[in-house]
Amino acid sequence: MRRPRPDQLPRFVADADRTGANAPARFVAIAVAWLGCCAAADAAAVADPHSNADPSQFVVRHVALDLETDFVAQRLRGAVELTVERVAPDADRLLLDTRGLEIHAVGLRDEAGEFAPLEHRLGPADPVLGSALEIRMPTAAGAASRRVVRIEYSTGPDATALQWLAPEQTAGRAQPFLYTQSQPVYARSWIPVQDSPGIRFTYEARVRTPPGLRAVMSAAGDPRPSREGEQHFVMPQPIPAYLVALAVGDLQFRELGPRTGVYAEPAVLAAAAHEFADLEAMLVAAERLFGPYRWDRYDLLIMPPSFPMGGMENPRLSFISPTVIAGDRSLVSMITHEMAHSWSGNLVTNASWDDFWLNEGVTTYLERRILEGVYGPRLAAMELVLGRQYLDEEIADLTAAGKRADTALVLDLHGRDPDEALSNIAYEKGSLFLQFVEWRVGRAALDQFLAGYFREFGFRSVSTAGFEAYLRANLLARHPGAVGDGELRQWLYGTGLPGGVPPVRDDAFAAVERQRDDWLAGRITTEQLPVQAWSPQQWMRVLDTLPDDLPDERLAELAKHGALAEAGNYEVSRSWLLLAVRNEYRPADARLEAFLVGTGRHKMVKRLYEELARTPERRAIGCRIYAQARPGYHPVTRQMVDALLPDCDRT
Ligand code: BES
Ligand code: ZN
Repeated sequence: MRRPRPDQLPRFVADADRTGANAPARFVAIAVAWLGCCAAADAAAVADPHSNADPSQFVVRHVALDLETDFVAQRLRGAVELTVERVAPDADRLLLDTRGLEIHAVGLRDEAGEFAPLEHRLGPADPVLGSALEIRMPTAAGAASRRVVRIEYSTGPDATALQWLAPEQTAGRAQPFLYTQSQPVYARSWIPVQDSPGIRFTYEARVRTPPGLRAVMSAAGDPRPSREGEQHFVMPQPIPAYLVALAVGDLQFRELGPRTGVYAEPAVLAAAAHEFADLEAMLVAAERLFGPYRWDRYDLLIMPPSFPMGGMENPRLSFISPTVIAGDRSLVSMITHEMAHSWSGNLVTNASWDDFWLNEGVTTYLERRILEGVYGPRLAAMELVLGRQYLDEEIADLTAAGKRADTALVLDLHGRDPDEALSNIAYEKGSLFLQFVEWRVGRAALDQFLAGYFREFGFRSVSTAGFEAYLRANLLARHPGAVGDGELRQWLYGTGLPGGVPPVRDDAFAAVERQRDDWLAGRITTEQLPVQAWSPQQWMRVLDTLPDDLPDERLAELAKHGALAEAGNYEVSRSWLLLAVRNEYRPADARLEAFLVGTGRHKMVKRLYEELARTPERRAIGCRIYAQARPGYHPVTRQMVDALLPDCDRT
């Protein structure tokens, strides 16, 4: 195999070569500087049931991607050069994760910079893990402990991380769009790599796109792309594979603050810039609470409507659903959530998906603290109450479905698809656990602990056991008696809700709940409901807590009075449509169809299809709508709805 000429390499590498330094070595130096003393030890510490990698043998330290985005064939093609470190002195087998990749060649770089072919083999495909790529590595004595392995490959037709969108599926409807969504186990469907949250590496990339399109990544980009259609990126901070991200589309950028900005299609850029004007203030508030922001820049990328997530915390560049743009900044908790992952998740990462609550639960707690810092306690309090409501609903649903074990914070996902088991429990029970600790030790003590935790575990991963030990030593030991031993174990490892949960302060909702009850009891008419004064969160609370047996006339009145039939705030619409489906209120069908066809937010559409799957009549409506909506959904979302509505005609 031939090594590419310097002019074919990313500019950063070519620059390094010109200065005489070997490029991967330069990045390794950066990585070592970042990793400091302790990272080598932690990569191998926890066995990850969702990766074929064996970090006790080799660990990937740096990834150099060179990819072309082929929108016609809907494939990525190119090569990756992995800088791998030998951990065991006699290691001779490098195991990588792959999923549906076509591997064209594998080579090892020698001292002269040439690549010599390496024997390799793709293992059988497991539906959750994908196929292990096993590469024979030479064991020659005295061999450098770091070697560069080059893999030439292309992605397969069903790469689970990739969504290729036709122009009609974008805001501008003129250009196609491509993006990756790699969490939890899909990075392997576009990069052959050790795809485990416990293994971190730095990365760089050269991406070639069709002219007129712009690429962005979870990395520092080249401010002035050197040539039309080619862009370069560098990520000097080590991250796990699930945080490597790419998007390509008709994108423009608008600066919001010295370290912050937003990328979006031209059609939504102005609305996005208005909605997220407080981005820099949020970052400042977060730093005040949790310590320095370690990723240099924080930008947002507004995604096309079919993006399956509300948001995804790709470092330096959160991917955000356009459904957050409400016009009145009422849904910015999603932004503070993804931003908070810059500490919990991206800086300190869950060691395996069993410890997912360490990413999402801690983040949900931080999300509301940032929200409180920027927007005051009222909005934060309402979000807390709604969160508690979602937690109670999730515990009830999982218990009814015979999945009580999934109501624990720490999961055992061995042999399971993590996408099926990751639920609201991690978010809301995890957050409630930190509220509980705050309640017992005081806010100042918890804040100090959290800042120390982010310092101590920065750029490393941590398991629940590691977190527990650190919590005991650095917080609970200083507050003897504040949290009992059994209590702590019950929170972390027990199912359902432990006794003694912190009280919810629900004064924010007390007034609207009284109005709701008066309306239900007929003490006031629909016109007397003061809905003009209701915030989106108050609307959500009322709609979510109305019963399933309301007469059509009452729902019609409510819809008219609250203008619920019109497209408005996305989260309010979702609560309204859920209520309509629960009540089999058919006049909302058209709005339901527009909603489900118009966006593909996984969690949101999941709840609606679950309700639609409950009776044969509803299933008929669900199938009719799904037939329209399915082509626009992300493959993972399609898989989920296919399972909920197995009997729909898909011809
Ligand atoms: N990291 C998650 C998204 C995710 C979770 C992707 C599990 C794949 C597997 C992200 O931070 C998130 O939690 N997004 C939420 C929105 C958030 C405001 C609660 C979502 O997408 O619903
Ligand atoms: Zn999250």
